Amino acid sequence: MNILLLGSGGRESALAWKMAQSSMLDKLFIAPGNGGTSQYGTNVAISPLDFPAIGKFVADNAIDMIVAGNEDPLVAGIYDYFENKPVKVCGPSKAGAALEGSKDFAKRFMEVNNIPTARYRSFTAETLEEGKKFLATLKAPYVLKADGLAAGKGVLIIDNLAEAEKALEEMLGGMFGKSSATVVIEEFLSGIECSVFVLTDGNGGYRILPVAKDYKRIGEGDTGLNTGGMGAVSPVVFADKEFMDKVESRIIKPTIEGLKNAGITYRGFIFLGLINVDGEPMVIEYNVRMGDPETEAVMLRVDADLVELLDAAASGNLGDIELRHNPKPAVTVMMVSEGYPGSYPKGRVITGIDEVTESIPFHAGTAVNAEGQLVTSGGRVISVSSTGNDIAEALSKSYASIEKIKFDGKYSRRDIGRDLLKLAADSK
Ligand code: AMP
Ligand code: GLY
Repeated sequence: MNILLLGSGGRESALAWKMAQSSMLDKLFIAPGNGGTSQYGTNVAISPLDFPAIGKFVADNAIDMIVAGNEDPLVAGIYDYFENKPVKVCGPSKAGAALEGSKDFAKRFMEVNNIPTARYRSFTAETLEEGKKFLATLKAPYVLKADGLAAGKGVLIIDNLAEAEKALEEMLGGMFGKSSATVVIEEFLSGIECSVFVLTDGNGGYRILPVAKDYKRIGEGDTGLNTGGMGAVSPVVFADKEFMDKVESRIIKPTIEGLKNAGITYRGFIFLGLINVDGEPMVIEYNVRMGDPETEAVMLRVDADLVELLDAAASGNLGDIELRHNPKPAVTVMMVSEGYPGSYPKGRVITGIDEVTESIPFHAGTAVNAEGQLVTSGGRVISVSSTGNDIAEALSKSYASIEKIKFDGKYSRRDIGRDLLKLAADSK
């Protein structure tokens, strides 16, 4: 079959890499792709949000399935746009994508379906004073979330009540534009986070992918600004059978059942951002896509034909297709541009990538310039993924590969996975 994959990051590189291994795949196109996705298919210069242009491309190239890598086209309704057309879309309908597109919707959904999550209330400019009163009933730190998409920047965690009140006022005053016209205030949860990915066919069938943990802050020891993600490891030591049984019975099944009861079509990935609160999983957020950079580790552990799985999910019937987890751990370490997540230079020449043999360097923010050189074109540049007999071995391979890849101003966190290695050592 012919597939059009939408997106341009490390996640899409990893999905394309995995799809390219499928015997079911004829042609793979990536829109718009990056400097590395052309190893797995053909890049096409179409925006994932330009549905008419996608429609024309689909018709001209006999595309059988569209796979949305990132949330934007899903939240904008790409599933619904193509619903009665002769192409499948792997992903939720617009109504389902609201699990990520509206935090207020997601919280109400969890409340209705008894899914464990932090206690919350939502406020608008009209209810600002009530919002301040609600803040005063909570203990610090205070968690304030813009309802809508805010490029990963819409969550503020504030230590002091007066500052939290001020932030609420500013958010409702347009700090994140329309996205913060409604603000969710919730109780702070303390624990270690992990990312659980589920592929569902919208008819009760689902498969759980390998669990991962990502590292969001720019600085070592989880300090400094939030980023799109600096690395990931899989598996996660505390996500053992007991924990995952709770996740499945308390979160995954009620989520799938809740979508069905609400009449919401959902044929794609559900990403559960979980936190382990004293052994009890609670939902921090839903996303309607795979995680980035988690995918760059998780795909190395998926022992299945990804095209077969996605096609079955998009067709509404996962049947008895197996998704085994490769027991070997996998990690990914992100190489970023200096200055990221603030402003950063672009166009720096990248060398040494062909010398990497022990890892897979998934391109994220790369491009090929007019002279045919591989150059940086984003903050997150290359996600260096490896497997090993244990997490430590996989990490040492990624770090050795990072030494070989060179561009001016490159930076990576050196402590990816260190917290989980310590946790594993402490529990022995
Ligand atoms: P979100 O965009 O909802 O994932 O929030 C971004 C990050 O903020 C999460 O990955 C958590 O690290 C943190 N966070 C969000 N909600 C809470 C909460 N209720 N308690 C503690 N940390 C949170
Ligand atoms: N790594 C977290 C995300 O993709 O949202």
